[in-house]
Amino acid sequence: MSSTDATPEEDMLIIHGGTPLEGDVTVRGAKNLVSKAMVAALLGTSPSVLRSVPAIRDVEVVTGLLRVHGVDVELDGDTLYMDPTSVESAGVEEINVHAGTSRIPILLCGPLLHRLGRAFIPDLGGCNIGGRPIDFHLDALREFGAVVEKDASGTHLSAPNGLHGIRYELDFPSVGATEQVLLTAVMAKGTTELRNAAIEPEIIDLICVLQKMGAIIKVHTNRVIEIVGVDELKGYRHRALPDRIEAASWASAALATEGSVFVRGAQQADMMTFLNVFRSIGGAYEVDDDPVEGGIRFWHPGTALKPVALETDVHPGLMTDWQQPIVVALTQADGLSIMHETVYENRFGYTSELRRMGANIELYSDCLGGTPCRWGRRNFLHSAVIAGPSKLHAADLQIPDLRAGFSHLIAAMAAEGTSRVYGVDRYITRGYENFEEKLLGLGAKIERPVTK
Ligand code: UD1
Repeated sequence: MSSTDATPEEDMLIIHGGTPLEGDVTVRGAKNLVSKAMVAALLGTSPSVLRSVPAIRDVEVVTGLLRVHGVDVELDGDTLYMDPTSVESAGVEEINVHAGTSRIPILLCGPLLHRLGRAFIPDLGGCNIGGRPIDFHLDALREFGAVVEKDASGTHLSAPNGLHGIRYELDFPSVGATEQVLLTAVMAKGTTELRNAAIEPEIIDLICVLQKMGAIIKVHTNRVIEIVGVDELKGYRHRALPDRIEAASWASAALATEGSVFVRGAQQADMMTFLNVFRSIGGAYEVDDDPVEGGIRFWHPGTALKPVALETDVHPGLMTDWQQPIVVALTQADGLSIMHETVYENRFGYTSELRRMGANIELYSDCLGGTPCRWGRRNFLHSAVIAGPSKLHAADLQIPDLRAGFSHLIAAMAAEGTSRVYGVDRYITRGYENFEEKLLGLGAKIERPVTK
């Protein structure tokens, strides 16, 4: 294993593999919407209520950030109450407590500039899956009229002349930069036209939140979003859309362990691309449309899994966060599969641990999926060839990031023998609610180390 030294022994899960996962799990609101909807609450003149909020660390981080800016945040079960009526400036030190834990602070810029005339961003965290620059964000904010100044503590922004609508085209349909433009344009003077925008379901749900608050946002064809700035927004009441990344993680775990998992809350409409892939690999699923108890049951039908050639892409393509759990399942497919990662340049680091478990995965810098992408010319190892089926065996694993981490858990559950997976508290709890209880409920043989 690479670096257990850096990870405390108690931040580890012991997994006795080889048991099919069988049973039900429930997914709640999407991590990638909930944190942004929490930021949107800052724009309101009255309190907001967000339902189906998962108990994950990213929610705690944004709660902390809102509180240091004077927002009263209360969690009751899975309902979050946010009262922004007394928003105030926070000191650099207070904000820096949250530095390096999440990338959400960047999205507070527009709302804080509208409410207070200034904002501060600490060093950003999030998963280490590529350079993850914020150039689109800062460039768009400057266009809106923000003055951006960097110093050793972080980035300071002000808007001496207010913020005004822009015509702007993104170089790449970035999720975060699209959200940045939305959260800033809704209260900027005049109209904003954003071209080459991201249109992920979580972004459409954020647009629903903003519309409830009083925003005027038109989603046109060809990735064009038009926002007419308004003077005032009020609070909202909203139920977050379900987490389609978590749903796909459980689906892949069912396939890799030859089990059967009913994912309550999973929604077909948001997962169509994943469902097509799941079926092409040879997995089976059944959709239950009941609005309360419904979900999707995913299972391994008992026949050999089939190899596939896949490419990740922005929505409606195959989501990059689905890539890692699918690759683990593909180690069990009968033949050569290809996964071409086109969104991030460095999202295959986790495969070295899978190789140590017996997976046959080679990485290439060529664009093997068929469509040339921006990483092919720059020598990044962003295509993987997976030769299966491989008998996976247990290993000691170090989790490198959130989504890769869950894939390590799936691989350890599919493998013969006892694995030790390090970094579960640090990474998995950022985005997976109660994952240990859920695993135990599905019959996984897991335990925590006995610490002295
Ligand atoms: C969000 C999701 C993450 C998902 C990703 C892509 C959240 C909290 N996270 O991340 O789970 O994997 O979308 O679907 O919602 N880029 C730039 N400059 C920028 C911004 C982005 O070059 O200023 C590049 C990134 O390096 C990356 C690509 O654009 O290569 C996509 O990133 P982006 O869509 O912005 O991802 P996030 O919003 O950070």
